[in-house]
This record gives sequence, C-alpha cells and structure tokens, in this order.
Amino acid sequence: MPYAHTIAGNPHWLPLNPTRKLRTIPGERGWPFVGNTLRVLKDPQAFARRMVARYGPVYRNNAFGGDSVILIGPEANELVLFDKDKNFSSEQGWGPVLNLVFPRGLMLMDFEKHRADRKTLSVAFKPEPMKHYAEQLDAGIARQVGGWANRPMRFYNEVKALSLDLAATSFLGVPLGPEAATINRAFVDEVQASISAIRTPLPGTSMRRGMKAREYLVEFFKREIPARRDGEGQDFFSQFCRATDEAGEPLAADAIVDHMNFLMMAAHDTITSSATSLVMLLGRNAEWQERLRGEMLSLGSNDGGVPHSQLDRLVLTEYAFKEALRLVPPVPSIPRRALRDFSFGGYHIPAGSFVGVNPAYTHHMPEHWPDPETFDPMRFSPERSKGRHRFAWVPFGGGAHMCIGLHFATMQIRILMAHLLRRYRIELDEGAGEEWQAFPIPRPRDGLPLRFVPIDY
Ligand code: HEM
Repeated sequence: MPYAHTIAGNPHWLPLNPTRKLRTIPGERGWPFVGNTLRVLKDPQAFARRMVARYGPVYRNNAFGGDSVILIGPEANELVLFDKDKNFSSEQGWGPVLNLVFPRGLMLMDFEKHRADRKTLSVAFKPEPMKHYAEQLDAGIARQVGGWANRPMRFYNEVKALSLDLAATSFLGVPLGPEAATINRAFVDEVQASISAIRTPLPGTSMRRGMKAREYLVEFFKREIPARRDGEGQDFFSQFCRATDEAGEPLAADAIVDHMNFLMMAAHDTITSSATSLVMLLGRNAEWQERLRGEMLSLGSNDGGVPHSQLDRLVLTEYAFKEALRLVPPVPSIPRRALRDFSFGGYHIPAGSFVGVNPAYTHHMPEHWPDPETFDPMRFSPERSKGRHRFAWVPFGGGAHMCIGLHFATMQIRILMAHLLRRYRIELDEGAGEEWQAFPIPRPRDGLPLRFVPIDY
C-alpha cells in the first residue's frame, strides 16, 4: 500500500512513523523495495503461520509499501474491532487500498461522522425493505438457477454474474438489459482497480479503467437522484435517496453516490466468494447436502423457493454458511491505524502504526476450533458455541464497522441454496477448488468446475 503517498494526500491523517519506532516489535523487513509483499501475495495465511511460529502473536511486517503491526487472535480482534477506547481509525487503515476508487464509503469514515451516516443508511436494512429484496432475489435466482441442470460450469464465474444481475435490480432498481450490463462492467472495472498493484492511473492500466468507470457510475447516480428522491423505489439506491439524517435532512447527492459505490463493492465479491466456498464444501460433504435439502423440503412449498417469512427456519443452512465463512472468510484480514499509543501482548505500539487483525488466522486456531480444517457446521449449534470467545468468529468484523449487509448476505445465500439444493445434487469435478487465490478476496483458481444434477423426487 502506498502509505506515504496516501498520507500526503490526506493532511488530516497522522504523519508516517519512521521505521525505527517499531524496532522493539519482532518481525522482518523482507527484500529491498518489496519487503514481504510477494510472500504475502503468494499465500497470506502460510506467511502468517510462519511469522506467528517465529515471532509470536504480535509481529511487524513490511508489505505493500509500508510497515504494519499484526495482532493475532480473538483478544486482538476484540481490542481493534470493538475499539472501546476509539483508538483505531478505519479510514486511515483502509484508505491506502480503497480511497482512490471508493472514497468516503462507510469503511472510509470514523467515529461521529461514521455513526451518523451509518444510522441514516440503516433504513435500507430494516425488515420491510429486506422483505422486498428477498422477493426480488427469489425471482432473479429462480430465473437463472432453473437453467443450470447438467451444464458443466465454473461456479465462481456463474455466481459472480448472477450476483451482478441481482445487484442491478435489488441495489440499483435497474431492470436487466443494456444499461444494467454497462453498469455491471463499469463496476467490475472499479473493483479491479481497487486491488491493482499500480496505483497511478497511467494509460492502459486497470487503475485508469477503474477511474473512468467511476466517472461513468458517478454520472449515472447523479442523473438518477432527483427522480429517485421523488419515487417509491424499494431498491437500496432509492432508499438512500429518500433517507434523512437525525436533523431530518436528506443525504447530499455526493454522499449518496459515494455510499452506493462503496456498498456495491462491499457486497459483491464477498457474496460471490462465500457462495462458492459453501457450494464447494457441500459438494465435498454429500451428507450435509442431504441434511440441508431435508431441512428445505420440510418447509413445505415445493416451487423451488422459500418465502421470506420462512427463511429463519433454515437453521442448518445457516450453520453451514457460518462454517464456510469460518473456513474461507471473504475478508481474511482487516486493517486499521492506531491514533494513540497502545499496548498489546506485552508490546508498546506507537500512535501512527498501521495495525492489522487476521480473521482467517483466528478461524483456524485449534485452541478455539478443535480439528479446525474439518467442515463441521454443528460447531455453531448453541450447545457447542457455549464458552467460545465472541471474537473468535469474525467474518463480518465487529464493533462500529461490523458489516451492515450481513443479514442481506445471509438471506441471499439461504435463497440461493434453497433453489440449488431442492433442484440439484452438486457434483464437483475431480480436484475442483483444490487451490484458492487468497488475495484480495478468496476465489478458487479453477473457478470451481462442477455440474448440477437434477434430483428426481
Ligand atoms: C458474506 C458476505 C460478506 C462478508 C463476509 C462481509 C464482510 C465485511 C467485513 C469484515 C466488514 C468490516 C470491515 C472492517 O471492519 O473494516 C464489512 C463491512 C461492510 N460491509 Fe460487508 N460483508 C459481506 C456482505 C456485504 C453485503 C451484502 C453488503 C451490502 C448489502 C455489505 C456492506 C458492507 C458495508 C457498507 C460495510 C462497511 C460498514 C461500516 O464501515 O460501517 N457487506 N463487511
């Protein structure tokens, strides 16, 4: 991450610490110029395991253009994410990665301003709009999934395309067609830019394409806002346009644009990644497919979908989804920046340090998750959850920035699974999903080749 560059562009941020300030914390600077970046990119969790084995649960790492201090385990997650003393900035943690393409989204805000905007946006996540999204998702998923019988496919690619189409309707209120397709393309370019290694928008780079895409989307949102403010649309965009703050004032047009842009990014690859890992794990554990199918069939209605009012009854499906999120969390590590000096694990960590916590590492710690590599959804039953540290499972983060879309994500996955498992048996290709690219959001390198085989009842 180009720490120095980003700090220069944000004068209200703390200045960059000289490296010597972290010298009491054990760790490695890695190779000249790139530090440990290549090793982290190759396999972030293998790198973390090696560092923890060598230095313990607090270590210094030099990657992506700067030093950061990594804190490992549930206590670290609680300290940094729950942040009861307001010591950690999300804006200054995520900013170096996201500010160029997704500025001023919720994760790029701190404290009072963040609280106020989050509250305003929360109307779009209330039960009534959720019911509306559920209906839209149900119809959209049924339309696509119905045509998946016996078709060899790479599931990751299919579910990514499906999620984009679903977002056009439930996020933007735009019917599928040429405009939705252009929006989807622009949006994919933006996300690509946010994770590209070249951070300057030079001609021909994904950063340049991403910034152009952003211009297109900003223009689209701005053009639509007046009509959406006066309309009755139930999609996220229309809700944000009509939302008012504590003083009864609507959000400014620029703020709506930034929040929409960010929301689409936050929702998209995370849902795609977690749907893919769940399907892979169910493909490998046929008995769990059966159990989930049984649960779905026990709800009665046999048209493939599940009414919104019954989604909460898919308890085993929820456990299985939680277990997939444990094994393959879509946001494997979470960055922050310390605004004040603090201590953890016997180390003094100075203000201005970039700090990271590691959900993926925590989710595989045998002291919190016995037999951690085994797919065992019943770990999430109330009996077996008893006594577990509340920050041992943090795929959605925790504290003030905890994922605002977690119920939406859970709902979409339940609806998708209901449509898939009632119709089909998952048949993975030999060796499917063996290797995953972990960074920035996990995806199987082979796209998860499989077939959905229709079930004869
Ligand atoms: C399985 C799917 C998802 C996962 C694993 C996930 C994960 C996360 C995590 C870990 C954070 C907190 C990051 C931090 O503390 O720095 C977060 C924040 C956020 N997520 Fe999600 N997310 C998912 C789906 C969604 C969806 C569907 C939406 C929108 C409908 C969404 C919108 C957001 C937003 C707006 C934030 C920022 C919240 C804030 O800063 O107050 N996410 N998500």
